[in-house]
Amino acid sequence: MPRMRAVQVLHAKGPFQQVEREIPEPNAGAVRIKVQACGICHSDEYAKEGSRPGITYPRIPGHEIAGVIDAVGAGVQGWEVGQRAGVGWHGGHCGYCDSCRRGDFVTCSKARQITGLTCDGGYTEYMLISAAAVAAIPDEISATDAAPLFCAGVTTFNALRNSGARPGDAVAILGLGGLGHLGVQFAAKMGFETIAIARGKEKEPFAKKLGAKHYLDSESHNVAAELEKLGGARVILSTVTSGKAVNALLGGMGINGKTVLVGNPDQPLEITGRLLIAGRRSISGWPSGSPIDSQDTLDFCALTGVRPMTEVFPLERAPEAYDRMLSGKARFRAVLSTGL
Ligand SMILES: NC(=O)c1ccc[n+]([C@@H]2O[C@H](COP(=O)([O-])OP(=O)(O)OC[C@H]3O[C@@H](n4cnc5c(N)ncnc54)[C@H](OP(=O)(O)O)[C@@H]3O)[C@@H](O)[C@H]2O)c1
Ligand SMILES: [Zn+2]
Repeated sequence: MPRMRAVQVLHAKGPFQQVEREIPEPNAGAVRIKVQACGICHSDEYAKEGSRPGITYPRIPGHEIAGVIDAVGAGVQGWEVGQRAGVGWHGGHCGYCDSCRRGDFVTCSKARQITGLTCDGGYTEYMLISAAAVAAIPDEISATDAAPLFCAGVTTFNALRNSGARPGDAVAILGLGGLGHLGVQFAAKMGFETIAIARGKEKEPFAKKLGAKHYLDSESHNVAAELEKLGGARVILSTVTSGKAVNALLGGMGINGKTVLVGNPDQPLEITGRLLIAGRRSISGWPSGSPIDSQDTLDFCALTGVRPMTEVFPLERAPEAYDRMLSGKARFRAVLSTGL
């Protein structure tokens, strides 16, 4: 039996382990992807720490996957061996619950799979996934650039395009990590007056290069007051893991302003009713996207030149790459390459 290399988490809070496994065969409705690259998302922490219900072990993490379709199961239509394709957080849906029947696969309530959490993900050479969960990769985009677009990319692209902001509106992106650095590029290409906000002066040149018109250092500025001076943000897209950082910015929403959380804050938000009511302000959240949203994201990137900035590591250095992401040192997305 041909074998493959993979990196798995043995149990919640356990170490990463490099293992060899048999290359799996796809069941009906599934495809096998020869993984070329897999981004390391902060949400891989859920698989590593077991900090979300429904995760079983051992588990191969990873939900920013780019590669080539290598085998197709019975009954799969529309996908062929040799096609470049990838997978994100959304790993499959039932197709018959009320949400799916409305075309809202992301809130499927019956049999939703989450790649790298409830089924194995992309820290490996080969993986199986529902054919309904894959999206095609345009020729212009390399595998290592495509991979982060399947989560960091689609999440920020989709949140922004559904935020209600219109070209010319002031849009602030809070955080300049894996999600944030793509959010800044998308906001600029969508025609928003883009304000990047992150900790420290050293990220300013990156932010400007990525298309930000303004940069606010949250360590040396009262960022809410600075946003107010700019007229208030129509949308704040928060990509950070810190509730304190979000709370410090909420007062910077303009009239009709909206804060959209994509980053998961580590503490509850604090906001007065008066701030929301008086200026018709709101706070909402946005969960990644469906496979067709990923397809739209990749097509938009092919069209506009948006690309992630990556640090590429061979698959076997996954633990080091993961630590680099966790420490906030990656510029800006650590990506594993299998060399296939
Ligand atoms: N909604 C979704 O579907 C979705 C999808 C993917 C990820 N996520 C979530 O989005 C978040 C970001 O993911 P990522 O992969 O972009 O992570 P990342 O690359 O590790 O970036 C983390 C970000 O959090 C900020 N941060 C961390 N600690 C902070 C602190 N103490 N104070 C202020 N800011 C702090 C950093 O800000 P600086 O830039 O200022 O250093 C950085 O921008 C995570 O919570 C992840 O789980 C959500
Ligand atoms: Zn992710």
